[in-house]
Amino acid sequence: MARRTKIYEGKAKTLFEGPEPGTIVQYFKDDATAFNAEKKDVIEGKGVLNNMLSEYFMNGLTAIGVPNHFIKRLNMREQLVRACEIIPLEVIVRNTAAGSMSKRLGIEEGTALPRPIVEYCYKDDSLGDPLVSEEHIAAFGWASQQDMDDILSLALRVNDFMSGVMYGVGIKLVDFKIEIGRVYEGDFQRLIVADEISPDSCRLWDMETGQKLDKDVFRRDLGSLTDAYSEVAKRLGVMPKGATPMKPTLIN
Ligand code: TMP
Repeated sequence: MARRTKIYEGKAKTLFEGPEPGTIVQYFKDDATAFNAEKKDVIEGKGVLNNMLSEYFMNGLTAIGVPNHFIKRLNMREQLVRACEIIPLEVIVRNTAAGSMSKRLGIEEGTALPRPIVEYCYKDDSLGDPLVSEEHIAAFGWASQQDMDDILSLALRVNDFMSGVMYGVGIKLVDFKIEIGRVYEGDFQRLIVADEISPDSCRLWDMETGQKLDKDVFRRDLGSLTDAYSEVAKRLGVMPKGATPMKPTLIN
């Protein structure tokens, strides 16, 4: 079998050259990191869950016409995606105050926001992904004004889609982060949702109990991360009986 060429290794995923030009194989690792990798662990089964969940959300986005990088899932840990130039921004949408916004502005976690708030962070681990304004983005040429209009529209469409899907299974979408990629089609370029959408990159709270079903379980030592992600997968019908190599007791 031909050896695959590694393109990039991130904290939670590794990217390999895909079988066709313009494609990439995205491998989901079990590594979990928080606070810019100050806290690290290996959580058995996390990669499988995020692979399946990201497939589910990206397919849903495709179905409602939100362009994204997903082509197909290859196996339990890998998916084939469209190659794109990642815009160096983390695009965060918040519906409810939590995390760094609560800390920064002194707003109690769980406070409903009057409207979805979109924030941008500059993607640079050595700087700890600092919050930036549209002024920085324009001045440093990270994205054009047209790009910013498209990014805002994509972010709000993903928010509406994800909020609705989660509401349907009794989960509140508190906030999430997406990354956006640029693809070239002939003389045109357009922006698509890239990277992943999973409980690693969202805050998900059970609507009745407020139980956290996302990476805060790891960040804040609140229990088993795979139990939390499995609960999300189970409610969405993404993880059928026996389809996981994790401890069988986690899934019923
Ligand atoms: P924050 O409140 O820590 O800024 O996080 C906002 C959202 O972004 C939350 O859903 C978690 C997600 N997120 C990532 O996906 N990657 C990151 O590196 C950080 C800091 C947050």
